[in-house]
Amino acid sequence: MEIKFDKDFIFGAATSSYQIEGAWDKDGKGPSIWDVFTHQKGNIRNNDTGDTACAHYEKYREDIGLMKELNLKSYRFSINWPRVFPQGRGGINPKGLEFYDNLVDGLIAAGIEPNITLYHWELPQALHNEGGWESRETIDDFAEYAAFMFEHFRGRVKLWSTFNEPYVVANLGYRMGIFAPGIKDPQKALQVSHHLNVAHAKAVAVFRKKKIQGKIGIVHCMSPVQKMDNTLSCAENAEMVDGMFNKWFLEPSFKGSYPERIMDVIKKEGMELHAEKNDMESIKENRADWLGINYYFRTRVFDTPGGSGGFDWKKSVNIKPVEGALYTEMGWEVYPEGIYEILKDVNKNYKIPELYIAENGAAMKDAVIDENGIVCDDDRLEYIMSHLENCKKAIDEGVPLKGYYYWSLMDNFEWAHGYDPRFGIIRVDYDT
Ligand code: FCB
Repeated sequence: MEIKFDKDFIFGAATSSYQIEGAWDKDGKGPSIWDVFTHQKGNIRNNDTGDTACAHYEKYREDIGLMKELNLKSYRFSINWPRVFPQGRGGINPKGLEFYDNLVDGLIAAGIEPNITLYHWELPQALHNEGGWESRETIDDFAEYAAFMFEHFRGRVKLWSTFNEPYVVANLGYRMGIFAPGIKDPQKALQVSHHLNVAHAKAVAVFRKKKIQGKIGIVHCMSPVQKMDNTLSCAENAEMVDGMFNKWFLEPSFKGSYPERIMDVIKKEGMELHAEKNDMESIKENRADWLGINYYFRTRVFDTPGGSGGFDWKKSVNIKPVEGALYTEMGWEVYPEGIYEILKDVNKNYKIPELYIAENGAAMKDAVIDENGIVCDDDRLEYIMSHLENCKKAIDEGVPLKGYYYWSLMDNFEWAHGYDPRFGIIRVDYDT
């Protein structure tokens, strides 16, 4: 099958620093909350850590070579904050910065456009010890770190984003406690989510004030929400899920307020969101130039057992498997139409000038078929084709989708799942 995209459509692949770099304490790098979290036994499947990961810190030149072979137009990667600022602020680690200089220059020389994410979850542990994202001071620290990076790569890097998936940072990190820093406190998660929004806005303001040539974006995980029952309680549940997952971080930026229904529930549960006077205006004013959508699955919402009243994610969301559907190694349903649905929804609701698929991909059981490590990757090819087909359909219907980044360039450390799931276009032999 052939699908034709415009000449300037960006085909890329994505990674993040903790998941591939390794060298967790090399050349003056400071620890991040993920270093600390993975070193505590029991947090990660098989007690895997990112200490070595894909050794990208050492092998980045070879990795750029592989990207070139793949014909990538762009590479989305993230900067490990404490590699550059070991304490989160103050003194710079020249060796860490040099690594990113070499990477960026190497990409440019190879004709691959760098797309930098400033925060793919590695909060410097030193800042966490002082309150981390629960504290407003971290907002200023983030803005200073961002300012430094923008200036440093002025003229070399044109595509930037502030945060990868603030939803995950707040909810998996501070509410469910399954990601670093492993906190289980809904009130804290709520406050953190607001601080992330404010930090994003502040970094965008810095970007504009400095007149950096290029575009500043943000990346959210998003999922089309589908009602599976025709009842009031199902409709209410769907509104909750959509509000928490899709709207919570977009409406402040693009509408100037948090979703009302969620705010009501928050109040009812006795929680409180502390915002300072100009926060909401600042978030709205400093919205991103582009939005990156990470699409992995749809969300099917069911009735609350026993009718309306309480919403319980575990009892009403994706509770029944879809008959005949394919599931990835993550247990995520393969549903290519969802990428089309979410693109259409976002375009209708927010009118953002530039959209990207910043991540889309699948963990598949790789069958190695020869001694060179060649993998029979038909199911992954099929996955990519079917999702691209749906992207094209959205473009044809007027959605300003400018690019698609496959997750991931190579197999890597999949957070709480360790190294078991393999998302890579490129297979990694972890023993060597
Ligand atoms: C996303 C993350 C990314 C990767 C994929 C599978 O939520 O942004 O780091 O783990 O999921």
